[in-house]
Amino acid sequence: MLPLRHALAVAVVQIFILSENWALAKNINFYNVRPPLDPTPFPNSFKCFTCENAGDNYNCNRWAEDKWCPQNTQYCLTVHHFTSHGRSTSITKKCASRSECHFVGCHHSRDSDHTECRSCCEGMICNVELPTNHTNAVFAVMHAQRTSGSGVPTLCLPVLAWVFVLLLIRGHCS
Ligand SMILES: *[C@@H]1O[C@H](CO)[C@@H](O)[C@H](O)[C@H]1NC(C)=O
Repeated sequence: MLPLRHALAVAVVQIFILSENWALAKNINFYNVRPPLDPTPFPNSFKCFTCENAGDNYNCNRWAEDKWCPQNTQYCLTVHHFTSHGRSTSITKKCASRSECHFVGCHHSRDSDHTECRSCCEGMICNVELPTNHTNAVFAVMHAQRTSGSGVPTLCLPVLAWVFVLLLIRGHCS
């Protein structure tokens, strides 16, 4: 029975590795981006997508630096400039204090025919999307804290594989 157990153990490890690779190979979904589990510098610390004058949202989020917001900030701010055709010209995202989030909303400049929309949100890397109108250029404060341990889909597969194989082993060896 020992060789069979050995083979099953190897199979389990392979299933585990495969499922991890499968999770990594998916397109980047910025809503699923979770920072690595490094120690938090202080209670309620958080991160924001951070970029300066990025040309589009993908490149802002894609290359955003991964570091904790300073302790005097509580929110993530997004400033979005775009033309009357809706083409983004400048995107800036950063950690922000309450006073920086005082002015949210959209302002159209007739002279330059540009619109600036500003939005703020609360929570771990919450500033994924760009504000484009008065519905989404808002100050969004969270009600439920997003926890760092919510990776259910990527965890489930290996766990299920384990349970399945353990049941197999029991069936074979009893
Ligand atoms: C605001 O923008 C969002 C996203 O582009 C869009 O779905 C929504 O319909 C817009 N709302 C208004 C009032 O224009």
